[in-house]
Amino acid sequence: MFRLVFVRYFDSRLQLIQNPNKIKTFLLWRGCTLSGLERYPVGMNLSQARELMHEWVQSPALRVHMEAVAACMKAAALRHDPNMSAEDIERWQIAGLLHDFDYERLPDEHPLPGVAHLETLGVDEEIRDAILGHYFEKTKVARTTPMARALFAVDELAGFIVACAKVRPDGLEGMEPKSVVKKLRQASFAAAVNREDIALGVEELGVERNEHIAMCIEAMRGCEHVVV
Ligand SMILES: [Fe+2]
Repeated sequence: MFRLVFVRYFDSRLQLIQNPNKIKTFLLWRGCTLSGLERYPVGMNLSQARELMHEWVQSPALRVHMEAVAACMKAAALRHDPNMSAEDIERWQIAGLLHDFDYERLPDEHPLPGVAHLETLGVDEEIRDAILGHYFEKTKVARTTPMARALFAVDELAGFIVACAKVRPDGLEGMEPKSVVKKLRQASFAAAVNREDIALGVEELGVERNEHIAMCIEAMRGCEHVVV
């Protein structure tokens, strides 16, 4: 009898450890407040997010895009709040690193199944909503947080900057915002990049366009994972 009770107790503890949502429920039961818990990426840190992204994304170009957006998100987090905690900066990076992670496997459903999977892994609602918000046309989830607005404002732009870097002999080195703006005006260059989304993102975020472009160039230039 004692052995049976012990095994059941051990099994319940094991399930608790393996399931972040059960940890959350357990902590709530123990009297912890949800406000702090909701903001913490239970079960996911930056290296785990990168591991997940590499598991789902095989395309080198898409991996670079995810890293570029993550680098821009780090810079955007610090611009939004220079005193932001390292933990929260990492959450902004995770949103960038995972925003398209289901695109290769499930392009027609993207980003809904990816976000559903992230929920099972205990990734918090702000990150999930930011990922849903970057594709409003599909999800109808509005961009209501600074993180969501930043993700939308750097996504297409990061892709466009990579395209600009590829046609320059020095890549990102020495790239100026004005040359990016000039390319934006050329409809035939990187035609797949939606210029209206870039403009809307800048407007929603309430930043100055050239400063925003400069921030993204600098962020990507300083990221070891962005190989252009
Ligand atoms: Fe993207």
